[in-house]
Amino acid sequence: MKTVLEFKARKGQGRISMSTAYAHWEARWLAASPVDCVLVGDSVATVVDGEPTTFAATPEVMARHTAAVARGLGGSKFIIADFPFLAARKGIVPAVDCATLLMRAGAHAVKIEGIDGHEDVIRHLVESGVPVIIHLGLTPQSVNALGGYKVQGKTEAAAEEIITQARTAEAAGACGVVLECVPSEVAQIITVALAIPVIGIGAGPHTDGQVLVFHDLLGLNLGFAPRFVRTFAEAGATVTAGLSAYAAAVADGSFPSAKESY
Ligand code: KIV
Repeated sequence: MKTVLEFKARKGQGRISMSTAYAHWEARWLAASPVDCVLVGDSVATVVDGEPTTFAATPEVMARHTAAVARGLGGSKFIIADFPFLAARKGIVPAVDCATLLMRAGAHAVKIEGIDGHEDVIRHLVESGVPVIIHLGLTPQSVNALGGYKVQGKTEAAAEEIITQARTAEAAGACGVVLECVPSEVAQIITVALAIPVIGIGAGPHTDGQVLVFHDLLGLNLGFAPRFVRTFAEAGATVTAGLSAYAAAVADGSFPSAKESY
């Protein structure tokens, strides 16, 4: 999948797989995989930089990582880059500046958290030729307002609010929705209601696709295991074994061998 048209055409035509990537080599691994598309998430702040929240990501940071990922993918996949903390809240001109940085860096679409209060910004970006995906449910940039990283939409009223937001996103021209940590039933209602793809993370099995963080799905996260993560490979164990073998070979003098020397 390389374009937003292919992304949208997959609605109802087979589930979409999406992984995050932040760096060149992650992108090279993804380029060689059947994963459909790649999100340069603002989770770069937590996963790569070890920050407690995603707030430290800036448009410049996102653009730098988007460029590294785009080089690694070499045109092989549809790339979505995150609008970082408050980048959609400063008005149309700063939002256009942020989109300019991300699209010039190689993104094919941007993802914006939330919809309330920035419908105009979203409409303007879409009318300007920038495909926009809206992230709803647990929006990590609002962690303080939400009182923590908690499942959203658990009451009828809260579920109704997310369903309305999803419809508003589609009406504003969004090309997709990411739904994070909402009950499966709510995600199913939204997936059926919208004509655009709905990608879930902690949103159950009924969405049009799934997204996971690269390090989580490969077991590179040293035990960070929210309920919605499945570890598809124990890459962390392989890394640990490799590092131990390297240190031991250096310590016992078996590395480098004559063959590995000039
Ligand atoms: O930044 C991120 O990683 C995300 C998720 C949806 C995985 O937004």
